Amino acid sequence: MSITSRAVRIDQPGGPEQMKLVEVTVGDPGPGEVRIRHHAIGLNFIDVYQRTGLYALPLPLQLGMEGAGIVDAVGEGVTHLRPGDRAAYASQPPGAYCDVRVMPAMNVCRLPDNISFEEGAAMMLKGLTAQYLLKRCPPVEGLLPGDFVLFHAAAGGVGLIACQWAKALGLQLIGTAGSDAKCELARANGAAHVINYNTEDFLPRVKEITGGKGVKVVYDSVGKDTWDKSLDCLSPFGLMVAFGNASGPVPPFAPAILAAKGSIYVTRQTLFSHITSRERTQSMADDLFAVVGSGQVKIHVEQRYPLEQVQQAHRDLEARKTTGSTVLLP
Ligand SMILES: NC(=O)c1ccc[n+]([C@@H]2O[C@H](COP(=O)([O-])OP(=O)(O)OC[C@H]3O[C@@H](n4cnc5c(N)ncnc54)[C@H](OP(=O)(O)O)[C@@H]3O)[C@@H](O)[C@H]2O)c1
Repeated sequence: MSITSRAVRIDQPGGPEQMKLVEVTVGDPGPGEVRIRHHAIGLNFIDVYQRTGLYALPLPLQLGMEGAGIVDAVGEGVTHLRPGDRAAYASQPPGAYCDVRVMPAMNVCRLPDNISFEEGAAMMLKGLTAQYLLKRCPPVEGLLPGDFVLFHAAAGGVGLIACQWAKALGLQLIGTAGSDAKCELARANGAAHVINYNTEDFLPRVKEITGGKGVKVVYDSVGKDTWDKSLDCLSPFGLMVAFGNASGPVPPFAPAILAAKGSIYVTRQTLFSHITSRERTQSMADDLFAVVGSGQVKIHVEQRYPLEQVQQAHRDLEARKTTGSTVLLP
């Protein structure tokens, strides 16, 4: 049975004005697929990279990587979901900006009853990212309670989850953010120290906070603007986890600088390398559901937009006007 849905599509890369709300036909799920009717859709910075063409994908492109809703049909071979289940996901391919879609079931998880649809849509991509950053990218000798880590854009969607989770793990997270109000938000959510990197040079401040030693790990999703100084914030053998480019991509660099800075390590990570199997997706999601269910991590849905105002949502995200998570409501 085919049904119609509204969907946000781009026909060419560019600014927010390229996003058009169109009507599409949605069919039945095939083998390994589900059809899900969204109650809330997550907004992520990766949507901006895909819209602008920084991450080039075939066109026309329906955007969106995160959502929550009710499963209304399952395809052959899908055993972990049934019609009527509450569910949430972070998943490829893009296409979450819509009322209803057919998609691979592998990354779709049943949503516990104590987590709302809005929270589900606000936490799967961002929370699973915080999960792998803190638990699946260990530096040499691991991350131990009391260790210092530096987390840029700490008041953002991934940032506020990471601040709380790092505190629960006993880490001393130094959070950077672009205003004093954002810094206070990061502190209220568990950052041990905060730095407004628009008004203060974060490198000497990190050195001061750590007694000159530097941090074991830097989590850097800002990219171009923070890259060089972030490497200098690391202690010897420290780990730079690059996972985004909100300010622009990092230019090429010579590996020899890693030796000069204390035999440091650099990795560029993406969530989608971590969730390539149903089992791994579910175990990471279970960890996330547990930390949210226990109240140690609260999901801050700070902005809500009707789906038809998606252009404004993108403008606000890119203008650094948002904090925490943002959802689009179908
Ligand atoms: N690789 C992965 O697996 C993965 C997964 C999820 C997210 N990410 C990345 O993690 C980052 C956070 O994602 P999110 O969706 O939660 O976004 P977000 O943190 O809510 O928003 C991005 C933040 O980046 C900061 N920023 C610094 N320079 C900026 C600039 N020139 N333009 C715009 N923003 C700038 C802003 O905070 P301040 O004003 O405080 O600086 C802004 O609020 C993004 O870079 C995203 O691509 C990567």
